[in-house]
Amino acid sequence: MKSIFSNLYLVMATLFMMSCQNDEANAMPPADDDISENVNKTLIVYYSYTNHTEEIVSDLKSLVDADVLEVEPTEKGLDYAANNYRIGTEQLTKIKDNPEEESSYPAIDPVDVDMSKYNTVIIATPLWWSQMSSNMQTFLFKYSGMMANKNIGLIVSSHSSGISGVEADAKRLVPNGKFLKSLWINNANHAKRKSLLEQWLKDIEYASLGSNVTSQTMIINVNSHNLIVDLADNSSAASLIDLLKNGPLTYEAHDYGDFEKVGDIGHSLSENNEQITTEPGDVILYQGSNICIYYGTNSWNFTRLGKIRGVTHSELKEILGDGNVTITLSIGSTSSVNTVRASDGSSSQIYSIRGHKLAFVPESGIYIENGVKKMR
Ligand SMILES: Cc1cc2nc3c(=O)[nH]c(=O)nc-3n(C[C@H](O)[C@H](O)[C@H](O)COP(=O)(O)O)c2cc1C
Repeated sequence: MKSIFSNLYLVMATLFMMSCQNDEANAMPPADDDISENVNKTLIVYYSYTNHTEEIVSDLKSLVDADVLEVEPTEKGLDYAANNYRIGTEQLTKIKDNPEEESSYPAIDPVDVDMSKYNTVIIATPLWWSQMSSNMQTFLFKYSGMMANKNIGLIVSSHSSGISGVEADAKRLVPNGKFLKSLWINNANHAKRKSLLEQWLKDIEYASLGSNVTSQTMIINVNSHNLIVDLADNSSAASLIDLLKNGPLTYEAHDYGDFEKVGDIGHSLSENNEQITTEPGDVILYQGSNICIYYGTNSWNFTRLGKIRGVTHSELKEILGDGNVTITLSIGSTSSVNTVRASDGSSSQIYSIRGHKLAFVPESGIYIENGVKKMR
């Protein structure tokens, strides 16, 4: 199968190489840095080598209101297609051999993006040897920790190959994304890209995606950290909001089962029990008056109240600490989200080496502060 493609592709490659004579021709417009404060917004992130994906993104931008971010390799001027695609092939092989290692991924220019503002992320990428282009893989490897529970749309541009390998790469790199139906645009239908995009936006019901997100957020203050919770769209979260409208609520919580901090809030909320298998960050109502913050997994019949944004199991465990804690709940609106900061009051953006946003500088190990790699 691959060898059929290789022969065909060599012919087609000559043709498309003619369309990318120099690096200037491949230069992309500057990323749109007018990033609004609206959490329901869409981010389009793209990489393009020979401009096909960029043309797709340009048409998409005329159809949706979105911020656009371009991924650019740190090493400029590479000819990925030279010598039968040697560089592209080598980069992809390196990733395939060791997908968990950051050093397997080609370096990209640092990006300044606050993912918490976006409900939907559209990833637009070329297909390289039936996989996702290496530079886009780097972006997802670094930033997917901030894409959990977001709607993920994948648009793939290829010459002729099908995109299942790219979809598999996307799901590996963004394991907690809510994937929408993907869009494949190949060489044969590239000219019809605008109508394909219009149909795709209808298929994924783009217009109603924003309504999946409640604009209401809650802040959990614990051990001097503020955690942002996107509240569930149910009567239990609504009754908690009503309660918090009277002011912040403080309660004591303890560890249970090595998977949660739980405490009685002293008020009864309406229940919407269902069988749930928890993930780190889930905020759950148990027996009407206990609020559980999950840092681990448990399956039980209880009520979902919300989900803490962008924290991993180990980050949450570290924030919550061992033993009893005092927790204060208050309501936040999406507009207050950006005022929530790490406990030291600094406005630093701190990330783990895997790109997970951290609420604080870790006690040891490598971390990234304001785009600079540091070690403690
Ligand atoms: C390194 C490399 C490998 C590629 N491998 C394939 C392939 O396996 N199948 C295919 O149909 N197209 C392949 N292509 C072609 C691109 O997917 C296609 O030209 C795409 O439209 C390029 O998007 P861009 O212009 O945004 O870079 C490859 C291109 C490159 C540079």
